[in-house]
Amino acid sequence: MDKAKIIIHNKEYELPLVKGTEGEIAIDISTLRDTTGCITLDVGYQNTGSCLSAITFIDGEKGILRYRGYPIEELAEKTSFTETAYLLIYGNLPTPEEKKAFSQRLTENSMIHEEMVRFFDGFPLTAHPMAILSTMVNALSVYYPQYFPAEFDIETFDLMAARLISKIRTIAAYSYKHSIGEPFIYPRPDLKYCANFLYMMFHSPVKPYEIDPDIEKTMNILLILHADHEQNCSTSTVRLVGSSMVNLYSSICAGICALWGPLHGGANQEVIHMLEEIHNGKLSVRECIERAKNKDNRFRLFGFGHRVYKSYDPRARILKAQCDILSRKLNIKDPLIEIALELEERTLNDEYFIERKLYPNVDFYSGILYRMIGIPTNMYPVMFAIGRLPGWIAQWKEMHDTKPFKIGRPRQIYIGPVERHL
Ligand code: ACO
Repeated sequence: MDKAKIIIHNKEYELPLVKGTEGEIAIDISTLRDTTGCITLDVGYQNTGSCLSAITFIDGEKGILRYRGYPIEELAEKTSFTETAYLLIYGNLPTPEEKKAFSQRLTENSMIHEEMVRFFDGFPLTAHPMAILSTMVNALSVYYPQYFPAEFDIETFDLMAARLISKIRTIAAYSYKHSIGEPFIYPRPDLKYCANFLYMMFHSPVKPYEIDPDIEKTMNILLILHADHEQNCSTSTVRLVGSSMVNLYSSICAGICALWGPLHGGANQEVIHMLEEIHNGKLSVRECIERAKNKDNRFRLFGFGHRVYKSYDPRARILKAQCDILSRKLNIKDPLIEIALELEERTLNDEYFIERKLYPNVDFYSGILYRMIGIPTNMYPVMFAIGRLPGWIAQWKEMHDTKPFKIGRPRQIYIGPVERHL
């Protein structure tokens, strides 16, 4: 294969090229410092590949997203969230036997240790559920301390992964029940993943909750669309933290914290706040767009723009269609949908957004769907975390399976004072 050539101070160096299965090309600069004394500088990692990965493929220009080769549209239509989770983690969709064994592991690990349940008493009712989620996930390493990568073996990993995927949903539902002062509802072994979550969230001894298959389907779609997105902020965090050889639970806890921010998974919550402000008359659609364009403030149009997608986010397209399906089936007339559609239309015709290739991202329509399902706004990033978990686990596993294993450690260009003395 061709090599890249670089000239530094009139001296030419050759660097190997690495080609991916979809034709992407990278310049391997790992030897650059040894041979030339230079490092590369890329603030915000806008053009830095941190790993080779066989999990997720994105073509941001064409709006393509595939997990393990399968288009996201097909997975959202034809698989359940747990099947997609299995695909991401183990590389292939499960056979009927594998599916049965995986479901069994999820069911057996769905409860939270009773001692851990008492942790909830220590959180104020107003605690943000993302703070509770990250704390509780990290606390799993207290209850299962024997499972560290030094003892890594596949059975142990299978158990850790199942524990996380199953318990995260119980922790999330309990954090909601805690915030409204209702008793915790234990998981039911006869219910599937999403139905079980909805049951634990919304059932109460005095008001039974009936699971609507359309809502269950919508939740499956939402979680599948969130399930992985290659080396985004939270996933890179999971890999970086995990590269210190800390346990999986603590690595995932770090990912949850990274996801919480409004520029990442917290954006879905901000989208609804923004649409509500418009609906309450505090802001018009036009003013909102103008504010987002004004460089004198840090306000952004939440749910718009993406580091990778420079055309329509394929996840947003699926969710927009699902908004339409669910609102018709449940006969929901949500004024926020009208506002969202107007906002989208105006931005698609606005020079500022066209020039910068800013389109609605996954968070723009996911918030509206969560609202239709009845999920409280501050739980939206938690829903995102439940969805993203299999991706984080898959990426953590892939990193540990990669030889040679390397701790993540970027470099910097120092721009502080040169040596000085007191
Ligand atoms: N509203 C207004 N302007 C925007 C927006 C937005 N939502 N997004 C980007 N821009 C502008 C920037 O101000 C910048 O303008 P300039 O060139 O005049 O300075 C230009 O578009 C490029 O933006 P960057 O911030 O350089 O793009 P980057 O790739 O670093 O950021 C990000 C991507 C963080 C997603 C950004 O688009 C954003 O803040 N969006 C709003 C928050 C959001 O929806 N986040 C969820 C992303 S999806 C996810 O994480 C699941």
